[in-house]
Amino acid sequence: MTGDTPAPAGMRNEYDADLGLTESDLAADWHTQFARWFADAVAHPLPEPNAMVLGTADAQGRPSGRTVLLKGYDAEGFVLYTNHLSRKGAELTANPWASLVFPWFPMQRQVTVTGRVERVTRAETESYFAVRPRGSQLGAWASTQSAVVPDRAALDAEYRAAAERFAAVEQIPAPPHWGGFRVRPETVEFWQGRAGRLHDRLRFRLAESGVWVVERLAP
Ligand SMILES: Cc1cc2nc3c(=O)[nH]c(=O)nc-3n(C[C@H](O)[C@H](O)[C@H](O)COP(=O)(O)O)c2cc1C
Repeated sequence: MTGDTPAPAGMRNEYDADLGLTESDLAADWHTQFARWFADAVAHPLPEPNAMVLGTADAQGRPSGRTVLLKGYDAEGFVLYTNHLSRKGAELTANPWASLVFPWFPMQRQVTVTGRVERVTRAETESYFAVRPRGSQLGAWASTQSAVVPDRAALDAEYRAAAERFAAVEQIPAPPHWGGFRVRPETVEFWQGRAGRLHDRLRFRLAESGVWVVERLAP
């Protein structure tokens, strides 16, 4: 800690959402509820409302987390794109379970998801890759994401090599090691901050019967 930086122990924000989140406000299914809150986050406006923290674990259960961008959602789940050989890609391949956190602090809201992960189809990956900016497409070819690299110059050289390789190619194909993962939720929890730390937590949970149940959790 330096200078006038306050100590984290003393930092707190009193939440004051007037409305909270009640069972009668909640949509009938998690994806309609998510669509409502996502629309609110975009309209707020929040910076990078589609940024989410992806939690994975390796085959021994050791966890790791990082931010990624949500690139699609529907009743089937939440889709993100990444390098399959990255740390997260390797962990999801060895242990296909993940968590997601949407940290929408300025709205005093959070959405948390847990579920099983699968790869999206190659066709889905190709159609998303095709609409990425060319610079991002080249970056996906140039970067061996999560590998140790000697220095920035080495990365720049890989990028230039990719640019040369595809100079005459109008539509750059998706690298074979790059693609989408879909998190198919088993739980989706909507958290709304309230005064006195009596926050609202309503969770959709896929019961063993295959039916979604809604449960209120203590804050
Ligand atoms: C706002 C933000 C968005 C990001 N979006 C992505 C993304 O969509 N896909 C991705 O692979 N990495 C994304 N990253 C980078 C990851 O956080 C991470 O550094 C990278 O994927 C390597 O993670 P890993 O080594 O755990 O696999 C993003 C980072 C930030 C800060």
